[in-house]
Amino acid sequence: LPIRLADYRAPAWRVERVELDFELGIDATEVTAKLLLRRDPAQHAPLRLDGENLELLAIALDGQPLPATAYRTIEGGLEVDGARDGSVLETRVRVLPAANTALEGLYLSGPRETGFLLTQCEAQGFRHITYFPDRPDVQSSYTVTLRADRARFPVLLAGGNPDGAGELPGGRHWARFADPHPRPSYLFALVAGRLEKIERDYRTADGRDVQLKIWAEADAIASCHYAMDALERSMRWDEQAYGRNYDLDVFHVVATHDFNMGAMENKGLNIFNTKCLLADPDSSTDDEYRRVEAVVAHEYFHNWSGNRVTCRDWFQLSLKEGFTVFREQSFSADMNSAPLKRIEDVALLRRAQFPEDAGPLAHPVRPAEYREINNFYTATVYEKGAELVRMLAGRLGAEGFRRGTDLYFSRNDGRAATIEDFLAALGEANGIDLTPYLAWYGQAGTPRLKAHGEYDAARREYALTLAQYTPPGAGQPHKQALPIPVKLALFGADGRMLPLHLDGQTAATEAVVVLTEAEQHFVFRDVAERPVPSLLRGFSAPVILECDYTPAELALLLGHDPDGFNRWEAGQQLALRACDALRDDADPQAVAAWCDALAALFDDAQLDAALLADLLTPPGEIELAERESVVDPARIHALRQQLQRRLAARIGGGKLDARYRALAAQSTAALDAASQASRRLKQRVLHLLALLDPASACDHAATQYRDAPGMTDRLGALAVLARHDGVRGTESLAHYRARYANDPLALDKWFALQAQLPGEGALARVQALEADPAFTLKNPNRARALLGTFASGNPTGFHRADGAGYRLYAERLLALDALNPQIAARLATAFNGWQRLEPRRREAAHAVLATLSAHDGLSRNLAEILGNMLKA
Ligand code: ARG
Ligand code: ZN
Repeated sequence: LPIRLADYRAPAWRVERVELDFELGIDATEVTAKLLLRRDPAQHAPLRLDGENLELLAIALDGQPLPATAYRTIEGGLEVDGARDGSVLETRVRVLPAANTALEGLYLSGPRETGFLLTQCEAQGFRHITYFPDRPDVQSSYTVTLRADRARFPVLLAGGNPDGAGELPGGRHWARFADPHPRPSYLFALVAGRLEKIERDYRTADGRDVQLKIWAEADAIASCHYAMDALERSMRWDEQAYGRNYDLDVFHVVATHDFNMGAMENKGLNIFNTKCLLADPDSSTDDEYRRVEAVVAHEYFHNWSGNRVTCRDWFQLSLKEGFTVFREQSFSADMNSAPLKRIEDVALLRRAQFPEDAGPLAHPVRPAEYREINNFYTATVYEKGAELVRMLAGRLGAEGFRRGTDLYFSRNDGRAATIEDFLAALGEANGIDLTPYLAWYGQAGTPRLKAHGEYDAARREYALTLAQYTPPGAGQPHKQALPIPVKLALFGADGRMLPLHLDGQTAATEAVVVLTEAEQHFVFRDVAERPVPSLLRGFSAPVILECDYTPAELALLLGHDPDGFNRWEAGQQLALRACDALRDDADPQAVAAWCDALAALFDDAQLDAALLADLLTPPGEIELAERESVVDPARIHALRQQLQRRLAARIGGGKLDARYRALAAQSTAALDAASQASRRLKQRVLHLLALLDPASACDHAATQYRDAPGMTDRLGALAVLARHDGVRGTESLAHYRARYANDPLALDKWFALQAQLPGEGALARVQALEADPAFTLKNPNRARALLGTFASGNPTGFHRADGAGYRLYAERLLALDALNPQIAARLATAFNGWQRLEPRRREAAHAVLATLSAHDGLSRNLAEILGNMLKA
């Protein structure tokens, strides 16, 4: 049965203090837990503790061993008789780290001889470590003692401040950690094994001396320096932007190759997937550098938005995730380029969240029910959640938002809060009622915003009609109107912004109107000429804008809008028109309009190189598919290629070639913004050239591959060769494979690159790659690199019309489910959108999904995803 938000009840039993004692071993670890229990006097429920995959060795209450009649194991836990307020329950259990392939709870990373032990508890992994009320509204003070063989586990870490360490007989040692801040069980962590570290001293703005330590295995530690810089910058930024200081004497970060997600914000002991922590010019791309910076910041920021103020229950997940993603995005915008960051974030939202919101897995940012909470760490909870916080921040303005977050943090410090608490604090600090925005959290689906303008030359008035509509779905047949802030400007024919006179407001060139009804009119007075509106500037609300622009109007915005995001957006809209025109074999004007506008910008020496690279990139295939009622992935792929070829032809091979040479001549390994921008543009130009003149593009690529000063250039060149040059592609792939034989993250990129190669041979290639000795389903990064990338990044391969792609994928999902249900369920979401496939593929996908879901013994994770996928 699903768990429902509406059924929330405060816990009948809390744990005030917990003492944990670990006797660590690779195969078996024994965990002793002493819980000081507190009973809610208003409730009379028996003491129930969560526990899964635990072998109970001993149990005692208030010092007395319990007879077998005084406790019983129940579904997912343990029920204990006789506990009173103030009782101490002591349990001893055995867990099996090396056998734990789900990577939830305590597990082994790496080979059993050399690997290390670590934990992942969010959301409900702690119950795989000991019996406990494993819910975030139970907050306790933790003291953790680790004991282990010193030679095998020289490093022992847990969250909190160090609280003693020493030797034990028989070559063993111990270390203790105490956390002064009460916290929920999902933030528990320990790490034990052979790890190296780098260190830095840090003093917080409020005067605390903190030791920052990043830990990794010997082969990876040299790649942790960039993360250390990013950590220090994150800590400073949070002090300045939000007034938040770090609150322990040590801050540990640990890298592991074996991790289900990107990273985890355990109190004082963040654990990272190496993919989100290691950065090194020889093996990381520019995009990966930015990702490391963002994820380091994200996990650090959780110390306040998540740890000091946590979530009452898992329905409130976006309280910490949406807010923290927003904080992370703001940080990245400050560290890099704000408009480029906004483009990247919106592109991600459209590629990952809009399809989720439009398909069978749609759910509100605050879901109303779930079966498996791990299935709800979604783009909706994270990315759309961040958009909702951004709208609130925009509504309050920078100072007002800061007043609001100050009140939110101070009022809820140490508490397990709700989304209502968040809106209340932001609103009350500013005397503004934000409760209308709560509707955004409860309603699934992406609103359509229709805009239509009428200019009355005689009255010099411009009337803008805005209307909203959210299609039914996710069990919500009637969607309500939401408050939609629309930031806008009006442009004159010369490309300059017109002053805005809106109901007595003084003249400015930008304004925000908020649509609160299904439809409203906004009248601008004293408008000197028929304007071109720039709407939803900076993407001021997560909606799909439908506006009846002419191509000429879009071209004007593309040429002149000083809002970098909307400038790019005008180009995207123009590209969509061009794409429709190609598809329907109509309106050659639309294709020319896009190509002409970009060809002009290509010659604009003032334009930022990275922005130009983004402007030269049409919307991706997923976005194009979202606009079709019947989807043929092969056709969409071909259409997008054709569109880019038209663009390349319009710019001209000579110009592309000259630009490539000019950019290649400046090539360095430097990581500053200008160097990254020039690499980005160079790659884009090379890609366009390859569509026009593959032979000369491949000559460039071969040189670039050979001389590349860093991974961005090397991988970019390899991608072009692998796609367009049979012989040199194969050679270079083999060369790369050998060069990076001992670098797992670089090998992941090798698998991913080949998983995306389109065409007839794609499926056979994936099968051949599965036979590579470096391939394993047990490592989530590797499984995602090959199988995940194949399903989401190879439309012509995965969506083969005969269904062979689906069948192979489904077989792997089953194998994966037996090892790691979280990863299996995540990869299964690649079938999202299957209902709108053209009939032959739809039939094939349906058959595969139906067979899969009828399988016995599926995990709850995979079963829930498949069940939702097949729901009418
Ligand atoms: N809280 C982590 C983050 O966003 C994600 C952990 C999710 N873990 C999971 N098993 N679902 O930073
Ligand atoms: Zn997070």
